Amino acid sequence: MRSARAVIEAIDREKYEVVPIGITKKGHWLSPAEAAGLLPESARQLLPKEISNAGETVAIIGDPSRPGLVALNHNGNSRQSQALDVVFPVLHGTYGEDGTIQGLLEMAGIPYVGCGVLASSCGMDKVLMKALFRDAGLPICKYTWFLRSEWERERNIVLRRISREIGFPCFVKPANLGSSVGISKAKSRRTLEEAIELAARYDRKVIVEEGLDVREIECAVIGNDEPEASLPGEYVVLDKQAAFLDYAEKYSGTGHVEFVVPAALKRRMTERVQRMAKQAFQAVDGAGLARVDFFLRRDTNELLVNELNTIPGLTDVSGYPKMWTASGLPFSQVLDRLIQLAFERYADKSRIQTSI
Ligand SMILES: Nc1ncnc2c1ncn2[C@@H]1O[C@H](COP(=O)(O)OP(=O)(O)O)[C@@H](O)[C@H]1O
Ligand SMILES: [Mg+2]
Repeated sequence: MRSARAVIEAIDREKYEVVPIGITKKGHWLSPAEAAGLLPESARQLLPKEISNAGETVAIIGDPSRPGLVALNHNGNSRQSQALDVVFPVLHGTYGEDGTIQGLLEMAGIPYVGCGVLASSCGMDKVLMKALFRDAGLPICKYTWFLRSEWERERNIVLRRISREIGFPCFVKPANLGSSVGISKAKSRRTLEEAIELAARYDRKVIVEEGLDVREIECAVIGNDEPEASLPGEYVVLDKQAAFLDYAEKYSGTGHVEFVVPAALKRRMTERVQRMAKQAFQAVDGAGLARVDFFLRRDTNELLVNELNTIPGLTDVSGYPKMWTASGLPFSQVLDRLIQLAFERYADKSRIQTSI
């Protein structure tokens, strides 16, 4: 919601007419009027005046002859539809960032902002993502992974493998998620078991990484086949209460961490971050945008790719817009460019022969 609001506030209204669409936690789609009602007054003011069809059931259907938002009546019959030129999925996490809504938009034949199905799903799965990074020659931390079913069947084998291959401290994470949900740092075998139990509540796949003492550097990427990288930023820990960037540190403004752009790095390190950010983007076959997060080891000064986020936070306090602003590209221009890239990618894909 906060990201959507920031996009609505920054988008060029001379050029674009925003049709807000909301999806509830249960998966129900809200009409533009209902969705607009969720926005604060200041953002609602910026939307076109004639938003109607309140209370109707709306959907995007996987039929390219009806591209856009289809309004359905109570019998499920479709009424009129509202054409959509391009969709901007400002949706974080499951169903928004993992390739599923991207698949729906592909089937519907509507251009959309950001990564396609493959890059989105690979960017969501930390195990798959790491395999692609490694294959592209990018440095990553030591890790292992297992399925929840494996854990439930043979706990001791899994625990021994982690102790042997990874050691302590280690970070235990659900493979598919984000925002630090379900992630914990384990310092002993006992806390490791608790950490695995927690992670296994959120996914059927769990990843365990070596716990490193790091600086956290991020870089914004924009583009399709020839991506560009912004100036890097850094999450600077102001007080040691922030053990790591958990959910509260990221979103509640605890005041323990601060996002600084540009990150205080030597020129060569800045260039390395930018080069690796673009390589990571290409390793997952990214499109449109991504934020690439790095670990800079304090002990060895080694730069590792941690992860890539295909729909990074876009709020006024988020890293992605901040890094572009500091790089000379204001957020409204970023949005303009992202929409242009969505059309370019759509046109490029439309050249592909699909019947033989
Ligand atoms: N291997 C690691 N070593 C040190 N800190 C880590 C490690 N993995 C994660 N962290 C900490 O946990 C945070 C969240 O982990 P991350 O892999 O980025 O998950 P998410 O997708 O939820 O953002 C990181 O920003 C960092 O503070
Ligand atoms: Mg992260």
